[in-house]
Amino acid sequence: PGVPDLAGRHVVISAGGTREPLDPVRYLGNRSSGKQGYALARTAVARGARVTLIEANTGLPDPAGADIVRAGTAVQLREAVLEAAAGADVVVMAAAVADFRPAAYATGKIKKKDGQEPAPIELVRNPDILAEVAAGRVRPGQLVVGFAAETDDVLANGREKLRRKGCDLLVVNEVGERKTFGSEENEAVVLAADGGETAVPYGPKEALADTVWDLVAARFR
Ligand code: C5P
Repeated sequence: PGVPDLAGRHVVISAGGTREPLDPVRYLGNRSSGKQGYALARTAVARGARVTLIEANTGLPDPAGADIVRAGTAVQLREAVLEAAAGADVVVMAAAVADFRPAAYATGKIKKKDGQEPAPIELVRNPDILAEVAAGRVRPGQLVVGFAAETDDVLANGREKLRRKGCDLLVVNEVGERKTFGSEENEAVVLAADGGETAVPYGPKEALADTVWDLVAARFR
């Protein structure tokens, strides 16, 4: 807040939600707006960082002062994140990545046929980008931050996910009606691999973003 405590740092942030195409006109997607990732980008610029924002289908105006990379699908997002991560001090995975994608892409529009049941859609797993970035850290001291939306046993599931993914910080959201998706506000607990737990009360997505950067900056000191 007003202090350039991320000066000289390169931060990479993914934002938005992937869309996994079925045919030229259809995709499997999710409700992520990208607003939390953009708030992270704006606040990181304000704190002096060099920012690479990798966005998936947000439709939001580009934040000033950040380098923007566009990636539509999970596979494209993985490519972009791994490339940018090679030179990053921090990687924050705020994007909602589809866990699965259609096994096949139909080059022509899928048609309905009279009197016939619809064909099932076969899915295959997408790569877990966060786990891959955390496991493949090239730079010593590089920090990796993930997000998790949980509906129940929020803290226990969050701890388990933090460990499983191997990240340093995990921002855990309880998914609720007015919260998280598309809204301007958020409420979360930031879990740290060293055992730390920071509750962020319901408020603007910038406030949560600044808490993440406070925790990151403290780890660089
Ligand atoms: O496993 P889950 O989807 O709940 O984990 C959420 C976190 O993992 C987010 O930070 C998201 O960006 C990241 N993720 C990923 N690749 C996936 C699925 C999730 O990087 N295939």
